[in-house]
Amino acid sequence: MARGCTREPREILGTNGCNEAVALGLQAVTRPGDTVVLESPTSFGFLQILEALHLKALEIPTHPRHGLSVDALALALQTQPVRAVLAVPTLSNPLGASMPLAERRRLALLLAAHQVPLIEDVIYNDLAERDEHRRAVKSFDTEGWVMLCGSFSKTVAPGLRVGWLEAGRHSTAVRRLKAAFSGGHTPVLELAMAELLNQSGYVTQLRKLRQAIAPRIAEARALVAAHFPRGTKVTDPSGGIMLWLELPGGIDSLALFKACLDEGICIAPGTMFSATDRFRHCIRLSVGSGWGDVQRQAMRRVGVLAGQLAAQGLKQAA
Ligand SMILES: Cc1ncc(COP(=O)(O)O)c(C=O)c1O
Repeated sequence: MARGCTREPREILGTNGCNEAVALGLQAVTRPGDTVVLESPTSFGFLQILEALHLKALEIPTHPRHGLSVDALALALQTQPVRAVLAVPTLSNPLGASMPLAERRRLALLLAAHQVPLIEDVIYNDLAERDEHRRAVKSFDTEGWVMLCGSFSKTVAPGLRVGWLEAGRHSTAVRRLKAAFSGGHTPVLELAMAELLNQSGYVTQLRKLRQAIAPRIAEARALVAAHFPRGTKVTDPSGGIMLWLELPGGIDSLALFKACLDEGICIAPGTMFSATDRFRHCIRLSVGSGWGDVQRQAMRRVGVLAGQLAAQGLKQAA
């Protein structure tokens, strides 16, 4: 799993997927109205959790390749009342960014110095191409400020809802919350999962999964280059299942989303991934749930529809 640190089974709390682990971690260290730092763009699910817990989102610039800006975070910690940081340092959603090792270390030290907890979501670490990207920020945490969480939703099956949380110095608080809200963890399910992992050769399966996904991403990028309007920018993630596209000419991703939906194609408009409107010209594409001629044709079609919207925009501007 997340490399670079070893944990005892008793330190790990089983959760209903990764999102519950994130929610428990946040509830343990915040009160309604508190400010939580997020990557920008960030996972749609995180924004929903923050909204449900009445927390304020402070979005920090995030590089499409190197992830969260530790410099910008350092500034935010000096100027804002940040109560927690929630981040996906490996293959962030939706950018697919992975923080370099040195930045992971800097992040752990910075947060320890400010005594601010980090909820580190490692749900995609096993899909990373490079070992250094699989290493968790938690491995640099000597004082328990990092809460590590993940699940098997992206590597075994989303419907299992088997996740986990190692909450460091906040472990008593998260266990109390878990017991209060759902009567505790699900040992039978967790034992079944452990059995499955032992039997199936999880590490071999992961290698196969990564080998299956990498050509899909390469092909999807080639389709973007061939069929999307000139000036479209696309990420080049080192692993994972997502591509993030910046569309040219003020194309409105919500208009594109609607046009695609009319044709039975589902894309994720950039507006989903921020509490602000700054990613309105962006979309996220995922190759995680299957890849074949249907998906290839859908991608070509999204490109054509984006081109039509760009042309309309030009006409209106003229
Ligand atoms: C970064 C991230 N964390 C958590 C989740 C949700 O995980 P789970 O289904 O295990 O709750 C997702 C799913 O899209 C995700 O992208």
